[in-house]
Amino acid sequence: MNYNGLIMSRLPHAGTSIFAVMSGLANEVGAINLSQGFPDFPISMELVDLVNHYMHKGFNQYAPMPGVLALREAIAEKASDTFGITYDPQTEITVTAGATEAIFCVITAMIHPGDEAIIIEPAYDSYAPAVELSGGVVRYSSLQVPSYTINWPEVRSLINNRTKLIMINTPHNPTGSVLLATDLAELDRITRGTNITVMSDEVYEHLIFEGIRHESVCYYPELASRSFVIGSFGKTFHTTGWKTGFIMAPAVLMAEVRKVHQFVVFASNTPIQHAVADYLKEKENYLQLPAFYQQKRDLFAGLVKESRFRVIPSYGTYFQLLDYSAISDEKEMDFAVRITREFGVASVPVSPFYHDKQDHKVLRFCFAKTEETLIKAAEILCTI
Ligand SMILES: Cc1ncc(COP(=O)(O)O)c(C=O)c1O
Repeated sequence: MNYNGLIMSRLPHAGTSIFAVMSGLANEVGAINLSQGFPDFPISMELVDLVNHYMHKGFNQYAPMPGVLALREAIAEKASDTFGITYDPQTEITVTAGATEAIFCVITAMIHPGDEAIIIEPAYDSYAPAVELSGGVVRYSSLQVPSYTINWPEVRSLINNRTKLIMINTPHNPTGSVLLATDLAELDRITRGTNITVMSDEVYEHLIFEGIRHESVCYYPELASRSFVIGSFGKTFHTTGWKTGFIMAPAVLMAEVRKVHQFVVFASNTPIQHAVADYLKEKENYLQLPAFYQQKRDLFAGLVKESRFRVIPSYGTYFQLLDYSAISDEKEMDFAVRITREFGVASVPVSPFYHDKQDHKVLRFCFAKTEETLIKAAEILCTI
């Protein structure tokens, strides 16, 4: 069969993700894997027992398309307790197959061919391909280095009458920066009175340190009225393999997203939704997360401070950026591969998070790992 002409890729530039590449290399050479963002410690047995319980009780068939009602109610209650906002579980909350599906559905529902979407880089890798698949155009603005703050005059300059969506992410992967109230005020100002919607990726909402308030769009009623808020129980309950997330948005916006969601997966995993609904009711299960992860951040960053790497402050997420410009002028990809092979610690370069592969000589290390793993990795980094 000659496939020439038969296949015209819809995503000609999409290759293997950097996470898969670096994790694959870590496995191949037996390196400590701080590259991919997933915990290496056990999850709550109570949560596992709850899933088992619901499976044994026979909750094994399709869930309702928008999600199990008990979970939507629990999500609404949490949003009300945390942010003082009311979302109607019937019409304004949808449970998705992870935040990744949520992102895809929001973008697909909002972007028509020729519409523009603003992405702030470095950015999570699923945003741009979803815009492209919808025939939209991505306009990029870079965070200012080394503070990793949004360049609002630049964002403002990208807005025109084709702008349909602005995507923000706080706490931010890969940099560990967080948006402040002044950022949200600026976003409110530039979108007020326009037809622009906001996709607020808040999957790391509970991974935020030093008592800083997570600046959700939910705190700002005008902004919330044009926003899709995205969350992930994979991040909150250390269960990335369960792929369970959610979207909150006003009913008119949500109605469009549900039209897409029903044809992407229809509904997500039933017993897990019931289990998470129960587990979410115990607030301590998420309120203890900042302290839990801050301890890991402090351990890792504290040990690495003794090295030749420069620690860039991480205020949220489970990622720590390290600047290696005092050690080498190699490109991020080359340096990341070399220290994985030669020293046995895998990280990810930040350059693949930019469409133009900007190289600032920084690597991202995931500290969602056991103390033992973090100490071992830091000891090695101190020898480089
Ligand atoms: C910023 C960001 N958004 C979305 C996701 C996807 O979350 P999920 O695993 O729930 O699909 C991730 C996962 O790494 C992420 O870092």
